[in-house]
Amino acid sequence: MSSGHYFAGDPSVGSEPRPVDVALPDVAFTLTADRGVFSADHLDGGTKFLLLEAPPLTAADRTVLDLGCGWGPIACVVAARAPHTAVWAVDVNERARHLTARNAASIGAEDQIRVVEPDGVPADVRFDRILSNPPIRIGKPALHELLQRWLPRLMPNGCAHLVVQKHLGSDSLAAWLRRDGYGVERIKSRAGFRILEVRPGER
Ligand SMILES: C[S@@+](CC[C@H](N)C(=O)[O-])C[C@H]1O[C@@H](n2cnc3c(N)ncnc32)[C@H](O)[C@@H]1O
Repeated sequence: MSSGHYFAGDPSVGSEPRPVDVALPDVAFTLTADRGVFSADHLDGGTKFLLLEAPPLTAADRTVLDLGCGWGPIACVVAARAPHTAVWAVDVNERARHLTARNAASIGAEDQIRVVEPDGVPADVRFDRILSNPPIRIGKPALHELLQRWLPRLMPNGCAHLVVQKHLGSDSLAAWLRRDGYGVERIKSRAGFRILEVRPGER
C-alpha cells in the first residue's frame, strides 16, 4: 500500500525528519518525527493525555504493548518511566517503525523497546498492559479487527488503556467492547478525550 495516510504501510510523502519535544512532569526529551506518520510535528494531545492520566505502571507490568506506536512517544515514555518493562512497539507504517527505533536508541532504550510490524510479535507473547492511541480513522471494521487481534493477548490480570476522542466514537467503542465480553470503564475524561480501561472479561 502506498499512500499519504499516516496509517499507510509505506507513506508516499517525502521524508522530512524534525525534532519534537515530549515534555511531561517526570520525563522530558526531544525525539524525531517525520511526514507520513501520525502527528508529524508535535506530541498529540490525546497521547499526552494518556501519558499524563493513565494509571502508573507497576512492578507487575513486565510486558507492555504500544499498539500503533507512530514515532514512538508512548513506547519511549514507558521505557523511561519503567526500566523493568519489556516494551513491544508495533505499527504497520514502516517509517513510523524506523522513527520509533531511532527514538528508542536516542534515549538509550534500544534493548528495551522492540519495534516490529504486527506479525513480528511472537505468538506466545502476552501483555500485562496495552497502551494505545488507536487508529480510529482506519474505520470501524478495521479498528475492531485490530482490537480483536491484540486484546485477547492481555494476561488475565492485564488491562489496556486506550485514549479516544469522544467525537470519534469513544462511547460506541466502549459499548462494542462490552458486547464483545470485555470489562470497560471510562476512567478519565477531559477536553473531548476519554481514557477507556479495558479488561479481559468472562469470554
Ligand atoms: C493515532 S496513531 C498513534 C501513534 C502514536 N502512538 C502516537 O500516539 O503518536 C495510530 C497508529 O496506529 C498505526 N496503525 C494503523 N493500523 C494499524 C494496524 N493494523 N496495526 C498496528 N498499527 C496500526 C498507524 O500507522 C498509526 O501510527
